[in-house]
Amino acid sequence: MLVLGIETSCDETAAAVVSGRHVLSDVIHSQIELHAEFGGVVPELASRDHLKNAEPVIRAALARAEVGLTDIDAIAVTCRPGLSGALLVGTQLAQALAWSQDKPLVGVDHLVGHLLAVQLEFPGREPSPAVPFPYVGLLASGGHTALYRVDGPLPSDIAELGGTRDDAAGEAYDKVAKLLGLGYPGGPIVDKLAQEGDPDGVELSIPMAQKDSLEFSFSGLKTNVMRWVHEHGKPDNDKNLRDLCAAFQRRVVDTLIGKALVAAERQSIDTIVLGGGVAANSELRLRGVELCRARKVRLVVPPFAACTDNAAMIAYAGAALVQAGGDDRGRLTISPKTILPRLTQKGGGARVSASPRPLRAR
Ligand code: KG4
Ligand code: ZN
Repeated sequence: MLVLGIETSCDETAAAVVSGRHVLSDVIHSQIELHAEFGGVVPELASRDHLKNAEPVIRAALARAEVGLTDIDAIAVTCRPGLSGALLVGTQLAQALAWSQDKPLVGVDHLVGHLLAVQLEFPGREPSPAVPFPYVGLLASGGHTALYRVDGPLPSDIAELGGTRDDAAGEAYDKVAKLLGLGYPGGPIVDKLAQEGDPDGVELSIPMAQKDSLEFSFSGLKTNVMRWVHEHGKPDNDKNLRDLCAAFQRRVVDTLIGKALVAAERQSIDTIVLGGGVAANSELRLRGVELCRARKVRLVVPPFAACTDNAAMIAYAGAALVQAGGDDRGRLTISPKTILPRLTQKGGGARVSASPRPLRAR
């Protein structure tokens, strides 16, 4: 099945053509430069830029895959979670294309896309076998950080095991970078500085240190960095700056991997899959693999192209929905919230219930 995927939920306008696990084309127009001077995504600017670029990006994706719209079997578009204006651009365009071509249209949850992106085979890369279900998905991006049990490709196969009570991991990176005057997005910049620093050179707290909790909290760590800056001044000395970044990064990585390992053990699952923009982090990828190996757990690290926002993961997740009989034509709605039931509520961490629905046995 040939699926056209469209993604406009935040600051990337993306389109892709996917056949099964094979990515035939993957086109991304990034808005990073547009938002950089504001230190974060400006929703109105994002929508306008999507409006300008969505059509040429879709045309480019079809051209690179060497297919026409008439060859496409179904259209998948991100409909949640994301910025409303940005989501509307993609979903409206997708609806128009689906009606004009009389093809099924499915709305895809962006987080489900991230959790399945590991299954994709990108052109020019060594083919890799599909990752068997179930696995623990560690999703860490600019907007979300949570652990999931992934039993299959449909939203009903995926259950959150715990998430962040406040900032997402990527958000913490971006805020710390802003605080230190390093630019946007902060993740790659802090990551680079951290590689040359001493993680024990600066003392920072361990976020959500309770070993048995699968919830995250990164805002305390960010405040810790802020306090350090108040006490010692903004580090202009390279060594101090690198040590501070290294200490921050070590805490984030150890927390993410430590909790993913607890989740894997509790679910009796021996595979953890990374997803989301923070999965591009060098220490998370290298140290993460070592920490997991020491516990006899396989950490699957997808290629960069699969970790950051893209439309191929939306097409792949959409194919499963179409195969299950889905067609949202005429009733596609957008939402700022994920379709996956949340175990951790943002802002305090009060649990809704011990488990939103029964977890499937292995
Ligand atoms: O998944 P993504 O591309 O967009 C969202 O859906 O949020 O993730 C973007 C986030 C940003 O917060 C960015 O700072 C972070 O991923 N990021 C990184 C790295 N590269 C990107 N964080 C840590 N280390 C990196 N190398
Ligand atoms: Zn994302």
